[in-house]
Amino acid sequence: MKNFLLMLALSLPAMTFAQTLFTPIGEVLRHPRCMNCHTVTDFPRQTDSRRRHTQLVVRGEGGRGAPTLHCSACHQDKNVADGKVPGAPNWHLAPLSMGWEGLNDRDLCLALKDTNKNGNRSVPDLVHHMEFDALVLWGWTPGGNRTTPPYEHAEFVTLLKRWADGGAPCP
Ligand code: HEC
Ligand code: HEC
Repeated sequence: MKNFLLMLALSLPAMTFAQTLFTPIGEVLRHPRCMNCHTVTDFPRQTDSRRRHTQLVVRGEGGRGAPTLHCSACHQDKNVADGKVPGAPNWHLAPLSMGWEGLNDRDLCLALKDTNKNGNRSVPDLVHHMEFDALVLWGWTPGGNRTTPPYEHAEFVTLLKRWADGGAPCP
């Protein structure tokens, strides 16, 4: 089913059906590897069950945790060898304005494009971020036995570029 949606989205002419491209894009953004950091809560989440982060970890100043327990106390620049503690450069929570929990496809799409919420990013900036940002790329190399988003990263970038070329419409 997932692959069917992807194939369908990619086979449609970009200008006419770009709207349908947001469906698989939304599936990636909603994956726990992304959503555990893009929360609307005062804390990150963990695992595919998206439970509250243990050790009483809180958002704190700039999404970096409490002064006494920064994210960087545990999360390094890369996953630890056994994969138990995930890591990537500059590990911290996305700001609340970039929290996506509970949004349907349309609202997620509108929030993503809203320059008052997304760090003043244009659509090309958003595509660039999702192609190259280390925290995004971590989603596909999360370490341990963590699951990855439903499409390969390269497929995701292709979808994003098609969507952008078609005017980045929201459903
Ligand atoms: C470790 C936490 C973390 C993970 C994991 C993470 N992000 Fe983010 N994300 C951030 C932070 C922090 C920012 C803000 C960066 C900035 O503005 O400088 C951000 C910003 C973004 C933005 C730009 C802002 C916006 O609202 O549009 C996009 C798009 C994005 N992330 C997509 C993703 C996707 C897709 C994934 C999963 C594949 C992901 N992120 C995983 C922390 C994370
Ligand atoms: C005391 C150590 C510690 C601190 C401090 C800490 N973490 Fe974690 N974090 C962990 C460990 C260990 C895991 C792996 C848990 C697992 O997979 O069962 C984890 C997992 C995560 C995950 C889940 C990855 C996934 O998708 O499954 C996110 C997101 C995360 N931490 C964000 C943060 C953020 C943001 C901060 C700072 C605000 C932070 N953590 C502070 C130890 C810590």
